[in-house]
Amino acid sequence: MSLAEVKELKSPVKKWVPAKKQLFINGKWVDAKSGKTFDVENPATGDIVAQVAEGDKADIDEAVKAARKAFESGPWKDMSASERGKIVWKIGDLILKYADELAELESLDNGKPLAVAGAADVPLSADLFHYMAGWTTKIKGDTFPISTDHFYTPGQKYLTYTQREPIGVVGQIIPWNFPLLMAAWKLGPVLAAGNTVVLKPAEQTPLSALRLAEIIQEAGVPDGVLNVITGFGETAGASLAAHDGVDKVAFTGSTEVGKMIVQAAAGNLKRVTLELGGKSPNIVYADVHDVEATAAGCASAIFFNHGQCCCAGSRLYIEKPIFNDVVKAISEVAKKMKVGPGLASPDMGPLVSQEQFEKVKGYIKSGQDDGAKCEVGGGTVGDKGYFVEPTVLTNTNDKMKVITEEIFGPVVAAEPFDNAEEVMARSNNSSYGLAAAVWTSDLKKAINTADAFRAGTVWVNTYNIFDAALPFGGYKQSGWGREMGSEILDAYTETKSVVIAK
Ligand code: NAI
Ligand code: MG
Repeated sequence: MSLAEVKELKSPVKKWVPAKKQLFINGKWVDAKSGKTFDVENPATGDIVAQVAEGDKADIDEAVKAARKAFESGPWKDMSASERGKIVWKIGDLILKYADELAELESLDNGKPLAVAGAADVPLSADLFHYMAGWTTKIKGDTFPISTDHFYTPGQKYLTYTQREPIGVVGQIIPWNFPLLMAAWKLGPVLAAGNTVVLKPAEQTPLSALRLAEIIQEAGVPDGVLNVITGFGETAGASLAAHDGVDKVAFTGSTEVGKMIVQAAAGNLKRVTLELGGKSPNIVYADVHDVEATAAGCASAIFFNHGQCCCAGSRLYIEKPIFNDVVKAISEVAKKMKVGPGLASPDMGPLVSQEQFEKVKGYIKSGQDDGAKCEVGGGTVGDKGYFVEPTVLTNTNDKMKVITEEIFGPVVAAEPFDNAEEVMARSNNSSYGLAAAVWTSDLKKAINTADAFRAGTVWVNTYNIFDAALPFGGYKQSGWGREMGSEILDAYTETKSVVIAK
């Protein structure tokens, strides 16, 4: 879709595109102090759809100051838990109210099919806020029957209890693959727990986070509680991660940058949670009931979001007797997929950026150079935009880069295996441990495989099922901590033990 066509859209996004967007600091929209802006492009065409303020260290300083003031002056953390819950719930409601607009914005900015943004990204984001709203009134401590009073201070009794308090000012840095949903995963719990926050969206996809800031303000979140600084990782992101006024940093993105965040955080020992890359194994046993349905599931495991998922099922291990059948079936699915601009609701849209396009093409070439065969795909689509064909590789081996490294594109490598012991060893032979899956009709095999995976999420006879109630995160170099569920609230609170002499 060209810029002219976007301008013709009879939709709410029209008012956004092309647009000049500012930073959101202390409840106000402001330019970057440097006056700089950067372009946001439609990955289906390369057209510029918006100009966004380029925040850097000076703007991060300002936003952290605003977040600190909002934290300490207390309108958010000292609000009654049920009031705070109502506001967080309202954010979810407003996301649903503006669902069409948000889905369009997401599709335009990221490239994902409009129908997918409308069916997955937007409702999952709303659900996350609704789920977290229920927790505001349930973040609580405990009392303890301590024993030291019997020998340490004989005769003196104590009342002891814990309470959970917000950590303070939180810096959050998010990626471009699910721009709105990643903002929701991060902001839902941070707000529910009473913190204040500075959010830095990915430079490739800043638009939906800016719209979300408007929605969060409309829901009644006080000024300064949420601040959004658009800008680049090396400048805005790095200064947020290193900032001494930030009490915790939460990051989702590449493992490489995750390690830099850890180093940057060392200065003031701020708390860190990380949700990083993956190279998820997906095992298919020969006893599956339905080869076609299994292959369709495995296709969706890799091609959903164009493979730009940290948990993409990119290493497909198929038991030898059905190897050819599954490869043929998944290749058929790939061949039939319509690839086109996200707003035209194809099966697959463009990759997010030229950089990602070059990276994925480079991996396909490296696989071919190493002797891999493209059963289907391997090329690009059209002469503009960042479209890569859904690609199935065979003839790979466990040493090739396409097996060891995260491609983050619509490229799956299918390898045969002989037995459970062998495939488990190969599956777990990765520096990552984010997700894994197994397809089988044998319950015992399913449970034993789920036990054996060294991964934070395991799917059985399904893939890519997420829920606000379910913790998500990685073993090994896939990260620190978990997103979602009640567990994430531990990551956004400090525990205080109180001892009172009676
Ligand atoms: P990235 O890790 O560089 O970017 C993610 C976020 O971190 C963005 O907001 C970016 O501005 C910020 N960032 C970058 N450098 C930073 C720094 N030095 N300090 C603080 N923040 C910084 O990911 P990128 O370059 O967009 O993609 C590269 C690869 O990373 C992808 O091909 C993919 O393999 C992986 N990736 C993984 C994601 C996941 O969900 N686990 C999401 C995005 C990318
Ligand atoms: Mg990067």
